[in-house]
Amino acid sequence: MPEIASQGRAAAGVSPQCRFLLVSSPKGGSGKSVLSRHILVSAAQSGVRAIGLDFDRQQTLAKWSVRRARTREAFPDFADTTVESVALQDWRGALKRAEGYELAVMDTPPSVEDHLPAIDALAEAADLILIPAVCTQDDIESVVPWVKALNGKGFKCSVVLNRANRRTTSYVRMRGLLVKAGAVCPTELPQLEDIHVPSIKGLTLLDYKQSRGIAPFEEIWAYLRREVQL
Ligand SMILES: Nc1ncnc2c1ncn2[C@@H]1O[C@H](COP(=O)(O)OP(=O)(O)OP(=O)(O)O)[C@@H](O)[C@H]1O
Ligand SMILES: [Mg+2]
Repeated sequence: MPEIASQGRAAAGVSPQCRFLLVSSPKGGSGKSVLSRHILVSAAQSGVRAIGLDFDRQQTLAKWSVRRARTREAFPDFADTTVESVALQDWRGALKRAEGYELAVMDTPPSVEDHLPAIDALAEAADLILIPAVCTQDDIESVVPWVKALNGKGFKCSVVLNRANRRTTSYVRMRGLLVKAGAVCPTELPQLEDIHVPSIKGLTLLDYKQSRGIAPFEEIWAYLRREVQL
């Protein structure tokens, strides 16, 4: 565990056993909740005891989890996931909810500037901060300074390019700017038109074995496990 994460957790009185992933971006709609729920399903399918902590008042992740529980009543073969709604104001209490789990995935609202002390505390407790970024000028303009600020504080972070189209010159340019700013996850998420469809039932692409969208999420999961030594 990075020393800084260990200090952050000790300050909050949280056990060092659990790995914490913070999914954060200054930009709205960049894929934080999509990424969070796919990671939770990957964990469940791998037998890793994980909890999602939904810090967003919109409760996108928590509502998805409620729909999943309903679906599982009829189809219990879908992997079981746990999500709790938590408040940024009570970040200490939220971290403690992860007690007894091997992994906590923390989904956060955008506009990090409005919640800096809480986001900073979560970043300090995190083993890794995942920053999804859509390959547009607007996203990159917000994400590059955010990555630099987090790195400057000694936090470990990695950008996950989302809705990426490798064939475009804008992708190549944006990726280049991000690589110069900090770590970039080697696997990006392509534009997946049907990604929102399984969410209606609380599912993800990973719940459908034939889905063409599975591979990048499996690779990102393998990458994360290695990065946080899970
Ligand atoms: N790779 C993708 N391909 C296609 N659509 C995507 C992809 N990733 C995310 N989306 C869509 O983009 C929208 C925003 O995604 P998501 O809700 O995960 O973003 P977010 O960062 O959590 O947003 P917010 O800041 O509002 O919490 C959703 O409608 C989602 O289905
Ligand atoms: Mg969200």
